Amino acid sequence: MQNIKILAIETSCDETSISVVENGRKILSNIIYSQIDIHKTFGGVVPEVASRKHIETIDGVLEESLKESNVSLDEISAVAVTYGPGLVGALLVGINFAKALSYAINKPLIGVNHIEGHICANLISNKELEPPFLTLVVSGGHTHLVVVKEYGKYEVVGKTRDDAAGEAYDKVARSLGLGYPGGPLIDKIALEGDRKAVDFPRSMLEKDSFDFSFSGLKSSVLNYQNRMAMKNIEYKVEDVAASFQEAVVDVLVKKTVAVAKKYRIKKVTMAGGVASNSRLREVMNKASKDNGFEFSYPPEILCTDNGAMIGCAAYYKYLKGEFSDSTLNAFPNLKID
Ligand code: KG4
Ligand code: ZN
Repeated sequence: MQNIKILAIETSCDETSISVVENGRKILSNIIYSQIDIHKTFGGVVPEVASRKHIETIDGVLEESLKESNVSLDEISAVAVTYGPGLVGALLVGINFAKALSYAINKPLIGVNHIEGHICANLISNKELEPPFLTLVVSGGHTHLVVVKEYGKYEVVGKTRDDAAGEAYDKVARSLGLGYPGGPLIDKIALEGDRKAVDFPRSMLEKDSFDFSFSGLKSSVLNYQNRMAMKNIEYKVEDVAASFQEAVVDVLVKKTVAVAKKYRIKKVTMAGGVASNSRLREVMNKASKDNGFEFSYPPEILCTDNGAMIGCAAYYKYLKGEFSDSTLNAFPNLKID
């Protein structure tokens, strides 16, 4: 099959994105309209506001995406859309838009799992990458260790039991008075801090468990701040940020290495917003070299939510004839295995 062009729509959270992807791995356009500036005022994503903003912008994003790709609607092979996990109202905007479009141009509809999309971003940025490989998915809502056995076949071997890594970053940033979203802000100020200033706990859970838990770490940061306030001791926010980040990165990297060893996987990748973190990239890179793994990760623009990753995942479904019909619905808690 040659030149399959998939138009892919992503509206699961606060980015309205539409992309045209050729043969799974070539981006012809990837327009991303971020609502972050609107939600910043509220200190987090407001679901109602997100849905309304998706409705307002989606037509313009489609127009721009087609224009940039230089592809007309009748050259599109299929319409793909994220159907979960995510905010139900936000997902429904994309799903209904995709259904109408696929009906109007008489092309198949493909529902895609958002997490699968994040993992597939690695296939776009690393053209040589082929399964089996391991992905550490670290986003605002998810922290998963996923073995990609073959295209479209996943095994989740570990996941968070409470907060996601990105969620922990956002909550700690808020308590440090840094603003939203917290991940990039902590990443930045941690560069000026001492990673060893505070010895925050590393929750490894039971021996041999590949699950994560970040809520204890989040509470430790809060307790530390309260303790210092009660004793009237000043502390450097940069030191707390750097020490918190070191605890998160330490656990993420150790568990990833342990899974790669146990499953004898030689290729390690990362996905999701937190995969943009500079310290995580640095420590994972070193650990991969020390352990003889190949290591790659997508550029920042493909780590955040975007349509291209959905178009890539949809391509492998297209090849297998895995299409959706007009009953496709939103699944806010959709799993991948
Ligand atoms: O994947 P994503 O864009 O959306 C979800 O599907 O959740 O991830 C957003 C999350 C936010 O929690 C944000 O704070 C975090 O990714 N993030 C980062 C960085 N950039 C984004 N966390 C740590 N370091 C970063 N550089
Ligand atoms: Zn995401």
